[in-house]
Amino acid sequence: MADIKIEIDGQIVNAKAGETLIAVTDREGISVPRFCYHKKLSTSASCRMCLVDIEGTPKPQTSCSTPVSDGMKIHTQNEKAIASQKAVMEFLLINHPLDCPICDQGGECELQDVAVEYGSDVSRFSEGKRVVAVSDIGPLIQTDMTRCIHCTRCVRFGSEIAGMMEMGGTGRGEDLKIEPFLAQGITSELSGNMIDVCPVGALTSKPFRYELRSWQMASVDSIARHDLTGSNIYAQTYKGQVKRVVSGDNDSVNETWISDRDRFSYEGLSHENRLLAPQIKVAGQWKEVEWDVALDFAIKGLNKNVLNNRKAHQLGGLASNTATTEEFYLMQKLLREVGCENIDYRLNVNNLEQAIHLDSTLKLEDLEQVDQALVIGANLRLEQPMINHRLRKAQLAGAQISAINVKAFDYNHTTNHTTVAPQEIAAVLAGILKIILEKKSVEIPAYLSAIKPNKLSLDLAEKLLNANRSVLILGEHIVNNAQAAGIAQLVAAIAKQIKADTLNVSMTANALGAQHAHFVPSGAGMNVNKMLQADMRAFLLLDIYPEYDFHHSNSAIEALSKEDVFVVSLNSFSNDLVSQYSDVLLPMASMYETSGTHVNINGDIQSFAAVVKAPEEAKPAWKILKVLADLLELPGFHYENSSQVSSELTHQSAHEYNQDVTLELNTKSTTIETIWTHSAYHSDVLLRHAKSLSMSKIGQTNFASMSASTAKELSLEEGGCYLGVPVDITPSVAERCVFVSSNQATKSGGVS
Ligand code: SF4
Ligand code: SF4
Ligand code: FES
Repeated sequence: MADIKIEIDGQIVNAKAGETLIAVTDREGISVPRFCYHKKLSTSASCRMCLVDIEGTPKPQTSCSTPVSDGMKIHTQNEKAIASQKAVMEFLLINHPLDCPICDQGGECELQDVAVEYGSDVSRFSEGKRVVAVSDIGPLIQTDMTRCIHCTRCVRFGSEIAGMMEMGGTGRGEDLKIEPFLAQGITSELSGNMIDVCPVGALTSKPFRYELRSWQMASVDSIARHDLTGSNIYAQTYKGQVKRVVSGDNDSVNETWISDRDRFSYEGLSHENRLLAPQIKVAGQWKEVEWDVALDFAIKGLNKNVLNNRKAHQLGGLASNTATTEEFYLMQKLLREVGCENIDYRLNVNNLEQAIHLDSTLKLEDLEQVDQALVIGANLRLEQPMINHRLRKAQLAGAQISAINVKAFDYNHTTNHTTVAPQEIAAVLAGILKIILEKKSVEIPAYLSAIKPNKLSLDLAEKLLNANRSVLILGEHIVNNAQAAGIAQLVAAIAKQIKADTLNVSMTANALGAQHAHFVPSGAGMNVNKMLQADMRAFLLLDIYPEYDFHHSNSAIEALSKEDVFVVSLNSFSNDLVSQYSDVLLPMASMYETSGTHVNINGDIQSFAAVVKAPEEAKPAWKILKVLADLLELPGFHYENSSQVSSELTHQSAHEYNQDVTLELNTKSTTIETIWTHSAYHSDVLLRHAKSLSMSKIGQTNFASMSASTAKELSLEEGGCYLGVPVDITPSVAERCVFVSSNQATKSGGVS
């Protein structure tokens, strides 16, 4: 776009030919009132609030839809502009209720602000005001459509960003209403952004309803930690409690949107199940004690069981993937200092011999630039909403997306979906690699010699070969695939041949922070599954909830509950099973209550401060670990704050994984495979305690999907139970496998 000069209110400003006038005024800090314009949405120019006077045009023009041209002279504040803005305001207020005192938007309402400047204090209209019935659109968003000014931001958000057209305009003229199309209400995983874009109090946060005015709260920058994005957020607090979370702006991370999971999880912080006081188990009975007593008890137990008799190899350290990078770092440092290498966070992996090692080579912003994407084993929309959003943007710009998944998911972009059983994924990828190698006249390695590519491999190989810029995305449904390591290796090999990028979304939360802090076993150290089978004498556990977190939950509970095993548990929530196997419970801060860093898929190390203090006796886990290390008289733990930990951590050298995985392309599996996933709103402990999210449609997800013939083979019927989850018989799932998405604890034993 050519550089031009225009004049606004007598000032000469630089602009690009063709950009909208409102983009220029915003950049220059010149205030133009608006309701329907939103920088991330298409232009609708429907509210007319942004009228300005342009010399040479007889009538005022809307600045959100007027492209600028060289020499244009604009007046935003002259008599003509102000008169037209006031006239629009008068029309808008004809039907607007006098609700400000009881309206949650009061104090942050764009209409209220503009009305103060442009509205009249007396109305010329004496007719009765229009009333629109409140519709219940779910547990997250409160509607009050009498306040709606028909700006259509929510409608455009649904169709353009969420990719789910759930709100729309019905009726004409005075009967025009903005409402959800379907009786089920709003189900998008990004729905809360409609609250942010709504300029008035028509759509507000239901959990926050009638709580506080915006000016009563402090707003603190923070980072959301439920997935690999690390969305930038503002946590709004009042009297030491998080009362609301809204989106922050960061174009390279989450732009200006956040998932509902990131927006509403704070509700879990005040759940009655929080662990609030240190406790020790004496003669099988739990006793609340002071911190020094609990810490002393923990140290004595660790010394007696492992440290005093040089049995650090019988000590294990396990942490949840939601820990901060500093917590991972301090915990592994403590364990390594006492001579223990048994360290792991990969609790949900069935077989760590098949652990996925794949780098992510693409930044979120660049994901929008791809023209071909292949998604392997992921329901990105629910599992990684903001990554899915970028992929959807790529598709809207012309990219082709293909997915090989065990089930046909509810995609919000056009996807060439093929249902592929978990047992066949490796063979499909091997077929793709073989075709690519043949086309490039590269020698075919021995492990591919028996592969006969099928039509799907051929189609996908062609798409990838014809692409200018492609990405292969490996998802979390592959984690427990019997050939997971081989699949990751095939993805890397395909990407190398066609110079494609890769995204590894097979893990989530702060798993990259764990890797950064080297929270994995090295040398003779044992991984989690080996630890649970070994003759262990003690464990140090960080925020683990066994029935959800472990793949082998029953055997984990059994191993941890053994009489002679001393277990020190740091937890943010109380849990019966944790109480069953632990000897000491140390209450720790949850998200928002501690400082630290999160590593996202871009590799950004984003730090956050504690937004509120942890309740009652709970303390940030990094402090608990530091004090434990001090009491063990370990050197090098003189930290006063978490940033001292992170600066030490940045000097650590990166850990290299051993990439020597042998490919075994055995597709002759006769067993029925189960892929168990938690509902998107049950993937970590804070989410599982967030009430409104649990009540939403996504939070209620609980089904074990299988085909009719798989159900027959398992002697199951629709409405029956598979591993405690209701059976859903559907042709959308591949044969000989079951896809579980559940809001319940994992029923171990049958999950392979
Ligand atoms: Fe007042 Fe704004 Fe609420 Fe309307 S939407 S009642 S102007 S605070
Ligand atoms: Fe605009 Fe809000 Fe009405 Fe939607 S509900 S059209 S965002 S005023
Ligand atoms: Fe320009 Fe609404 S902001 S018409």
